[in-house]
Order: sequence, then structure tokens, then C-alpha cells
Amino acid sequence: MSDQYAVIGSPIGHTKSPLIHGLFAQETRQDMSYTAIEGPLEPQDAFAATVRAFIAAGGKGMNVTAPFKLKAFAMADERSERAELAGAANALSFKDGRIIAENFDGVGLLRDIEVNLNLPMSGKRVLILGAGGAVHGALLPFLAARPAELVVVNRDVAKVKALAAQVVAGGALLACGYGDLEAMGQFDLVVNATSASLTGDLPPVPPGVFSPAGAAYELAYGKRLTPFLRLARNAGVRTIADGVGMLVEQAAEAFAWWRGVRPETRPVIDRLTVPLD
Ligand code: ATR
Repeated sequence: MSDQYAVIGSPIGHTKSPLIHGLFAQETRQDMSYTAIEGPLEPQDAFAATVRAFIAAGGKGMNVTAPFKLKAFAMADERSERAELAGAANALSFKDGRIIAENFDGVGLLRDIEVNLNLPMSGKRVLILGAGGAVHGALLPFLAARPAELVVVNRDVAKVKALAAQVVAGGALLACGYGDLEAMGQFDLVVNATSASLTGDLPPVPPGVFSPAGAAYELAYGKRLTPFLRLARNAGVRTIADGVGMLVEQAAEAFAWWRGVRPETRPVIDRLTVPLD
């Protein structure tokens, strides 16, 4: 039987992970299957039981998506440094009866920005909107890329300050509220990591934060020109992108971790890209 992998989440209906990993497997000639599992929300321990049943049936690894990333992290026997720092897992590997947790969201995002979009972060002014799980995973990889300044804003200012304090003390990282942005000038890169786009909303970001020569990145994908990207475009921003590249890059990291071979991401990104307008 071929090696079995799956993505687990709820709702999982619209996941692109089976398609992405299927294309990776074809390209690298790996004998594996990859399915989607609708994870149980109730009772509390049902998620762990579902993962264990998958392992018992011969499963080798899983991707984990909302809302199970914390539960996956909690049930692991071993956790990578990246998973520890994010406090969440988006990938699991099952080896010799042990569950190993990883988190490739942050590196996937960074790789998409720096490699695919050719926007090295070193020396740049970078702004991240939001303080949810996505931001948690992104802060350390971003700081490691040595931006001149990394500002993270959230409506709930206490939440973003707590997050920043948990990740790193001082340095290039500054946490604040949207009201503080007016006085901060333009940023080379603005990343929308809030969930606002999922409901068609716009975070209260002043258009003055965008630099025409810079970039705006929307973590959501396949939603075309979200209010955030429209604001950036109207501000004359040259490079605007959604999160399809991040989705494929984090998948490639997991694939390489499981299979020991790194797939080409560009053809898969091209295939999944929905034009912004
Ligand atoms: P996750 O599941 O990724 O952890 P979350 O914890 O629900 O997500 O966080 C969602 C993020 O989007 C939060 O930073 C939230 O801001 P608040 O903490 O201030 O609520 C942010 N968010 C959601 N809708 C938003 C909107 N319309 N404008 C600005 N920020 C928004």
C-alpha cells in the first residue's frame, strides 16, 4: 500500500492540500496518497482520537488547519523549535510510534515573499496587520530576515503587545494600534494577516502606510481583489499578491520534511492562482 497522508480541519471542504500534494507526488514520483479529513469539533478529545486512528491505519503524516493547530501541537510527543515558537502545529509526522509537530506557515510566507515575489526583507520597513495564529507563526521568521523595522498592529492592542512580548523583547519589533500608524510613514511591505478579508471587511489601516514602490500581501487566497488589496492598489502600490504562494510553499516544506525531496512550487502556484481581477 502507498504511504498515506492527509489534511485535517473543519470545515475542510474547500482545501487545496490534496491537489497540491498530489501534484508534488506526481512530479517527484512518490508513491503516496493524500486525502482530506473533516475533523470532529466535539467532544474535546475527539480530534486526538481521529489522529490516532489515522496513525493506527498506517498514516505517515498530516497537515493541520483551522481550528486544530493548537490541539495538534498539544498532542505531539516532540515539537520543532518553529512549532514551539508559534505555539501551534500545521504539520505532523508519525515515526516509530511518536508524533512530531512542525510549523511551516511562517517559513512558507517568508519564502513566497522573498523568493517568489523577489522582495528581500532585509533592511526594509515591514508592517503586519493582526495578532492571530498566522501572525504568531510569522514574527520570528520575519525577524530572522532582518527587516529595518517590523511593526505589528491590531485592533485589540493589549493582545498584540502580549504577542510581541512573548516572541521577543525589544529589537526591531514594535507592537501598536491602528491609530499609531498615521505618524509612522510608509512601509515597504504591508501584510494583511487579519481574518477581515474572510468577511469582506477592511482593517482600519490608513492608506498612507503604503509605499508605491513597495508591496502589499494578503494572506487569504482566491478571494480576488479584497478590500485590503484594493486599498493598496488605489494607493498606487506596485506589487500586490494574495496568499496562494504561501499555501503552496508551506505545503512544499511539509512534503520535503516527510519525503526527503523538495518539489517545484512554481507550476503548482501557477495552476492554483486565481487572477486578482
Ligand atoms: P487565528 O485563527 O488566525 O488565530 P484569530 O485569533 O481569530 O485568528 O484572529 C484574527 C485576527 O484578525 C485578529 O488579530 C483580529 O483582530 P482583534 O484581535 O483586534 O479582534 C483580526 N481581525 C478580524 N477582523 C478584523 C477587522 N475587520 N479589522 C481588523 N482586524 C480584524
